[in-house]
Amino acid sequence: MEKQLEWTMHLDEKYYMNVFGKRIPVLFTHGKGVYLFSSENKKYMDMIGGIAVNSLGHAHPRLVRAICSQARSFLHCSNYYYIEAQAELARRLCEISFADRAFFCNSGAEANEGALKLARGYFYRKGTPRPKIISARRSFHGRTMTTIAATGQEKMQIPFAPLMPGVVHVPYNDIDALMRETDTTTCAVIIELVQGESGVFPADIQYIQAIRRLCDETGALLIVDEVQSGIARTGTLFAYQQYDIHPDILTSAKGLAGGVPIGAVLATQEASTGFCVGDHGSTFGGNPLACSAALAVLDEIEKKNLTERARKTGAFLIKKLRSLAGRHPLLAEIRGSGLLIGIGLTRPIAVSLKKMCFDSGILVGSVGDNTIRLAPPLILTQAQAASFITIFDQALSVAEAKENSSDGSAKSSGGFL
Ligand SMILES: Cc1ncc(COP(=O)(O)O)c(C=O)c1O
Repeated sequence: MEKQLEWTMHLDEKYYMNVFGKRIPVLFTHGKGVYLFSSENKKYMDMIGGIAVNSLGHAHPRLVRAICSQARSFLHCSNYYYIEAQAELARRLCEISFADRAFFCNSGAEANEGALKLARGYFYRKGTPRPKIISARRSFHGRTMTTIAATGQEKMQIPFAPLMPGVVHVPYNDIDALMRETDTTTCAVIIELVQGESGVFPADIQYIQAIRRLCDETGALLIVDEVQSGIARTGTLFAYQQYDIHPDILTSAKGLAGGVPIGAVLATQEASTGFCVGDHGSTFGGNPLACSAALAVLDEIEKKNLTERARKTGAFLIKKLRSLAGRHPLLAEIRGSGLLIGIGLTRPIAVSLKKMCFDSGILVGSVGDNTIRLAPPLILTQAQAASFITIFDQALSVAEAKENSSDGSAKSSGGFL
């Protein structure tokens, strides 16, 4: 093994908190476009994009220029002062969405914290506090104490009890269950339009429209968590635009600044009244660096029509994957839209298949034992998508051969990664 990698693995094992388990043994040193290069000088096609983060791929000239130019002027100043890039980004996001107001923070979890806090504040300020927050089972909203309470996965909650009270979880895509729980004590419904972290499960259009109706009837606020599905990933700038509804609050993060940490809470004027002066804030949130990066990402998406590119390349990938499913018994179903794709497997070998893809020079994600996830940069071309399909096809054949062999060596390692 190459020395730089070996040393880094040693340091990681000794000093880093063991939350990621055994990582894939590679050290990336640089990237270009949809490719990453390792310390062993091997080239990888990045089909996971830092889990839906690297919207412009790696070392994108416009993003690099924006970051360097901001760094040459100044990186950060306190929110005591007006910040040009912050104000511009707020305007930009409001102009391209339903929102009237924005607030910036540093991550998806922090955006969801802010959104839930805003919803609670909204009813408190109206003089009718509401305790109940409705969320979906299998959902993922982040790793902070409030967002694990909102997250519909017990395994992420149990060790950290007691959780923030008031959250009720209902089955996803089940309108009746939602109707039973939503009433005039409901403060907010928080929902992902695609449940990315549990395997890429899109919401039904009727379901999201029923949530909107129920929120209108009861006065509850609708929070859509677009941390993963937003910023052109599913073929529209935000996924809610495919559901013919407007949320009251939307959270964004991941791809918004193409790899520079940022989170955003977008809200209608009415919902934004939940925060008064002094109610919320952030040291780093909305700083010049992150906001300049986000403006560059939005510029590039608009100038190069990357929303349409994501829709078309995604449709191409989904079609090709579905045709592979006809030949590969390992493939169960292909879910998702745009460049957020879940590949359901018939056997619990997602982790080992991901490793086989890695060995073949393609980076994919796995969710649990049964799903491979793709969230490549929005700049992926159809030719690159086609070459991914060729390699993935071969990796599937190898995995199937291993599965059929008596030792069953392709079995999942069951690790976190
Ligand atoms: C839908 C959704 N919400 C929230 C989060 C949390 O974002 P972060 O890891 O930036 O805190 C994620 C992360 O995967 C996510 O997919």
